[in-house]
Amino acid sequence: MSSSKRKHKDENALAFAESQVKSLIETHPDFFPIYTAKGRWKHSGEAWTNWCEGFLPGILWILHQLTAKRYWRDKAEHYSRLLEHRKTDRKVHDLGFVFMSSYGRWYNLTHDPELREILIEAGRTLALRFQKKGQYLCSFVAPESLFIDIMMNVGIIFWAAEKTLDAGLRELASQHCRTTQRYLVHEDGSTVHEGLFDIATGKFLRASTHQGWAPESCWSRGLCWALYGFERAYRFTHDASFLETSERCANYYIRHVPGNRIPYWDFSVPEGPDRLWDSSAAAIAASGLWNLSASTPSKEKAEVYRDIAFEIMDTLASRDFLAEGHNGEEGILLHGVYHYHKKLGVDESVMWGDHFFMEALQKTLNALR
Ligand code: GLY
Repeated sequence: MSSSKRKHKDENALAFAESQVKSLIETHPDFFPIYTAKGRWKHSGEAWTNWCEGFLPGILWILHQLTAKRYWRDKAEHYSRLLEHRKTDRKVHDLGFVFMSSYGRWYNLTHDPELREILIEAGRTLALRFQKKGQYLCSFVAPESLFIDIMMNVGIIFWAAEKTLDAGLRELASQHCRTTQRYLVHEDGSTVHEGLFDIATGKFLRASTHQGWAPESCWSRGLCWALYGFERAYRFTHDASFLETSERCANYYIRHVPGNRIPYWDFSVPEGPDRLWDSSAAAIAASGLWNLSASTPSKEKAEVYRDIAFEIMDTLASRDFLAEGHNGEEGILLHGVYHYHKKLGVDESVMWGDHFFMEALQKTLNALR
């Protein structure tokens, strides 16, 4: 696709996103959606866990950055402020998602010391999940449980360690990454969702899953969290093994994804009615591949990662995946999957899918402008 055609398509996606998000926040003020039900953000479906609140403010910050409109800035500050109390939330492993998407973007624009303190406190709270015996941050499910998703959250601990020069905090975060690398990422770059440990000894027991097809299968979103998260860990630590792990995950994605560059929700789902796309995994991959193309020292690899990121975005911004023209759909992207087994957000819009799509769109438009 030519650059001008691509740019036109992406500018169209941006305008569509603005109208969808404006409609969401004006119809349901101060509401933090997770997934749609029959296309609608507001419903009584189970949250399972409260991990998504940073994504709407994150989108508002991105819209402000892309359009320079005061409207988006005011809304971004307002929605971010509503999350401050979460900085001491010990029930979730998701404080990186909640705070880096919202306060992290805000801080990057202003360097306001008050925002810095909020982020540091959230990072220190997340660090309290560290299991000394197993050397990992435990998931919200139980102390014996390590999720691949936490690779997306450990960044706030690295961030807090960097700002406070706290070497112990930095080592804890690095150790979490090493444990995840060792037990949840395979040689071929595929990942498992969860590792279970013996909490008395710290010994790894077995792989498991909540959202994947099977305990040992490669849940697509988990793979993409690892692709993205290990690259971020490399940026903080310069540990080359983290970059290598991210690249291994990227290569698995590239080798196994169908031709439209969008994965099914698990790489092992057999052909049939269970085999649905997960557009959110593709959006995370696109954004992570943009980061990887900037981090890899290889010019050839950088080009491959960038080209695949462009191709993913070409598909996501097309009529097949953008909700534009689909009456009654309130999200930006169609065809996400939250929790297949619990039947939550299956073939629906999901807030993190919209968030990472907007993040990748920002990087794509910046590359084209
Ligand atoms: N719990 C994070 C996810 O669904 O990817």
